[in-house]
Formats: sequence, C-alpha cells, structure tokens
Amino acid sequence: MWNSDWLGHGPNRIVHDHAHLIQHKGRVLDLGCGNGRDSLYLRKAGFSVLAVDSNPDAARHTRHLLGSGATVAQIDARYLCLPDNAFDAVVLIGLIHNLEPTQADALCTRARNWLNPGGVLFMTAPLKGQGYACEYGPGELPKCFPGWTVELHEEKSGMTHEVILLVVRKPGNLVEDTGVRYNMVVDDDTLFVLTGDISEAEANTCRAIRDEAAGVTTPRVICDLSATCGARDSVVEMLVGIAADAHHRGGDLIAVGVPPEMVARMGAMQVDRYVMTADSISEAKAVRTPLHAPARD
Ligand SMILES: C[S@@+](CC[C@H](N)C(=O)[O-])C[C@H]1O[C@@H](n2cnc3c(N)ncnc32)[C@H](O)[C@@H]1O
Repeated sequence: MWNSDWLGHGPNRIVHDHAHLIQHKGRVLDLGCGNGRDSLYLRKAGFSVLAVDSNPDAARHTRHLLGSGATVAQIDARYLCLPDNAFDAVVLIGLIHNLEPTQADALCTRARNWLNPGGVLFMTAPLKGQGYACEYGPGELPKCFPGWTVELHEEKSGMTHEVILLVVRKPGNLVEDTGVRYNMVVDDDTLFVLTGDISEAEANTCRAIRDEAAGVTTPRVICDLSATCGARDSVVEMLVGIAADAHHRGGDLIAVGVPPEMVARMGAMQVDRYVMTADSISEAKAVRTPLHAPARD
C-alpha cells in the first residue's frame, strides 16, 4: 500500500549505496515507486526513469515530484507490457509482499527479462514466518537468480518487518547504447508508446516496435514523438502502421509532441482521422475524439 508517511525520506539505502553499478546514463524502471524517492534520486543522478505505481495518489505525487520530462504511469505492475532488454536497472522495493507467490514469481521473471545483460535488480522481500502471502526462507531469494552476481544480500529487521535486501546483476556484458530505446506501457484502455530518440532507428527496430504494439489490444494508442525530429522513413512507416492497427481495432492513435515536419509526412502517407496531435500526454489522455487531422493535400 502507498502511504504518505513515506514522503520526504531519502532514497532506499540499497539504491543509494549501489546506484554506481548502473550503466552510465542508463534507463531505470521503478516498480511500486511509492512517493518516488528512489525515482527522484536516480533521476537526479542522471538516469532516465520510468516510475510505475498502481495507486493514483502515489503516481500523481511522483509525477509532480519528478516534473516534466519524466515518465510516471499509474498501472498495476502485474499488467505492465514492456520490451525485453530495455532497462539497466529495475527497482522492486516494498512491492513483492503485496503479491501472491505466483504473481511475485511472474513479476520477478518479467523484471529479469526487462533488464539488459549486466543490468541490476534492486529488490526487497519479506522473510518467512511473518504472515505475508509471499515470503522467502533464509538464503532462498538469491537462489531465484542462478548465474547472477550477488552484489548485496542481507536479511534483517526492517521498519515494519523482517526483510531481505537483494542487489543482483544479470549475467552478460552491458549492451552498447545504440541510442534507440523506447518504452511501452499499458494503462487502462491505452497503450503508451513512449519513444526515446528513435529518429535514427533502423527498419528492424521499427518492425519490432510495431509488432509489439500490435500484440496489445487497447483501443487507444498514445505515441510520444517529441524526440523524432528528422526521423527516417522507417520510423514514420512504423508509426503509420501502429495507427493503422489501432484504426482496425476501431481505436485511435494520438501522437504527442509531433514535430511539424512529421505531421506533414504522416499526412502525406494518407493517415487521416486516427492520427492526431496533442502537446502532452495528459492532454492526449483527456481526448476522446480526434483533436484534428493533419493537413492533407
Ligand atoms: C511499501 S511502498 C514502497 C514504495 C517505494 N518503493 C519505496 O521504497 O519508498 C509499496 C508501493 O507499491 C505500490 N504497489 C503495490 N502493489 C502494486 C502493484 N501490483 N503494482 C504497482 N504498484 C503496486 C503501492 O501503491 C505502494 O506505493
């Protein structure tokens, strides 16, 4: 549960003490971000952060705390849809004890996959014998990560319960940063495609993004295109493809922060009423009917 008492505290110690293990300028996913204290710390340390919490007050608070440019989604972590190998760190602190063991296993497996090789998982979980649905016996949790490097493993009395602190590193070398990174988040009835700088994305990356978007059946798709200035044709085609898929489902694509030249190119590609623009994601979320269609010849 989110609790406003968490407000004002600095980052969790395991995050503070081990943030140096995260790839320089890497991407971090904070699951169950609460009041956003770890997200804020990591953002200030130069990482790009996607913060997620199922509680609307927590998400709102973190969004306010991190300010513009940060991505905060109000969503149940169990239903997150993200690409594999997309993050250099995942923070999973104080969340596992809210879940049933099968749900916790599933989330841990997905968190493992979301990490890049060399990526770091920061997590806490309750020790066995305290009545939580999901608990781990002494020494049990690190065994869930065979082949991973254990950077920290402590079992101790925490603020509210006996807690396991774990920092583990995924095997493999850090991937070379190609500059082509993106997120996909499903929130209620909307798929967010939150692109990083995809202007240089090659055709195969664009196909992968489109295939992934096609697997989600939400009626609305919101694409953040604010970093797509001068994008290649393959990027435009990918976006048009996502728009077409949304249209086939009877839904809409809302493109946020579209550079003017991109509007013109999309218009030229015969995408009409289901490609729209908005200045911000909150504006786009409020839209139920098209804002306007891009100009067509
Ligand atoms: C104990 S707080 C920890 C917050 C933060 N990680 C910290 O260490 O300060 C747990 C947080 O997980 C969130 N949470 C619980 N279940 C969740 C779920 N299934 N998906 C996303 N967030 C969840 C709660 O709303 C709450 O904000």
